[in-house]
Amino acid sequence: MAKPGILGRSSAQRSNEGMRIIFSAVIGVMLGYLFGISFPTVNITKLHFPSSIISYIEDRNSGITTQTLLNHAWTSAATHKKNNSASNSDEIPKIYVPTNPKGAERLPPGIVVSETDLYLRRLWGEPSEDLTTKPRYLVTFTVGYSQKANIDAAVKKFSDNFTIMLFHYDGRTTEWDEFEWSKRAVHVSVTKQTKWWYAKRFLHPDIVARYDYIFIWDEDLGVEHFNAEAYIKLVRKHGLEISQPGLEPDKGLTWQMTKRRGDQEVHKVTEERPGWCSDPHLPPCAAFVEIMATVFSRDAWRCVWHMIQNDLVHGWGLDFALRKCVEPAHEKIGVVDSQWIVHQVIPSLVTRARQRMEKHHGKGLEHAVVKNGGCSKQG
Ligand SMILES: *[C@@H]1O[C@H](CO)[C@@H](O)[C@H](O)[C@H]1NC(C)=O
Ligand SMILES: *[C@@H]1O[C@H](CO)[C@@H](O)[C@H](O)[C@H]1NC(C)=O
Repeated sequence: MAKPGILGRSSAQRSNEGMRIIFSAVIGVMLGYLFGISFPTVNITKLHFPSSIISYIEDRNSGITTQTLLNHAWTSAATHKKNNSASNSDEIPKIYVPTNPKGAERLPPGIVVSETDLYLRRLWGEPSEDLTTKPRYLVTFTVGYSQKANIDAAVKKFSDNFTIMLFHYDGRTTEWDEFEWSKRAVHVSVTKQTKWWYAKRFLHPDIVARYDYIFIWDEDLGVEHFNAEAYIKLVRKHGLEISQPGLEPDKGLTWQMTKRRGDQEVHKVTEERPGWCSDPHLPPCAAFVEIMATVFSRDAWRCVWHMIQNDLVHGWGLDFALRKCVEPAHEKIGVVDSQWIVHQVIPSLVTRARQRMEKHHGKGLEHAVVKNGGCSKQG
């Protein structure tokens, strides 16, 4: 009942009273502010949940995962905080983090794991001891079991530094276990699809983010003169973001660009038949490799993955469009001559389909598709 009292006093008393109210308000605000800035830096990060809260969460959400996650979030927040407090002592932990991936903005810093790998983990023991090796490269083959001998030979050209991934288009996977390496390979089985279908769906850039280089290969390649470690050395040395091994020329339609040259390590430009190249820095004279044995750097793949349309089947036209993903393309796309392969043209699902299409549409198909702007669609 203060109101009647104040109203009843003289104006001098009233202003005196007013001063006092303002003064205590100011003191209050200052104290609050001091509390505010000291509390979060000192304490919030060291706060432990009362065990009752933990067990409550456990009960609600079947436990251990939630608790581990929360603990992780809090420890990360704590270290984040400690690091920051040195430079910027009054930053308050953000709940809304705009740098988080879309859809995960509300997660606290430190809890977000936006990328992963294809490493196989154990079901027991310390997670930190799961991995004896962490391969830095990935090789994928799109395979049918009838090609097993060829794939076995190819896989042996890739060291333990490679994660091996097989896309099975014939539904046969367990048979491959006759090979020792099959047990550490990643097998994906979906019947009757082509390699770009698998690549789009199972090689998302965030999934394969751990790998420096990604080989996306057909199954019908002869690898007698190829060694993957040596290949990667050359690719690094020459700064190739998108590359392929030189192709031993065969009877089929072959671009000049991808033909192996005997006298050098790599080449990035070539000459084609007269009139084929409007610009010597553009495909098919440069900035160009084929798609049967393509090798991408991590960054290049992040771009190319986005360019692969969901209905892309055979990949026609993709070869001409790869250059959109690297700059300058005529320097970062090239062919490794001293590690080379043979295109064996063993009839497989893909090559049979290709032959059918070629018979149907005539030989110049690949070129025609591209000229018609079909960088993203099959013919
Ligand atoms: C703290 O910051 C330093 C350099 O800014 C960094 O090297 C270190 O990893 C950070 N610590 C943690 C726990 O994040
Ligand atoms: C695997 O990679 C490491 C690091 O680049 C290299 O030292 C080692 O020789 C590679 N292993 C093989 C079998 O080439």
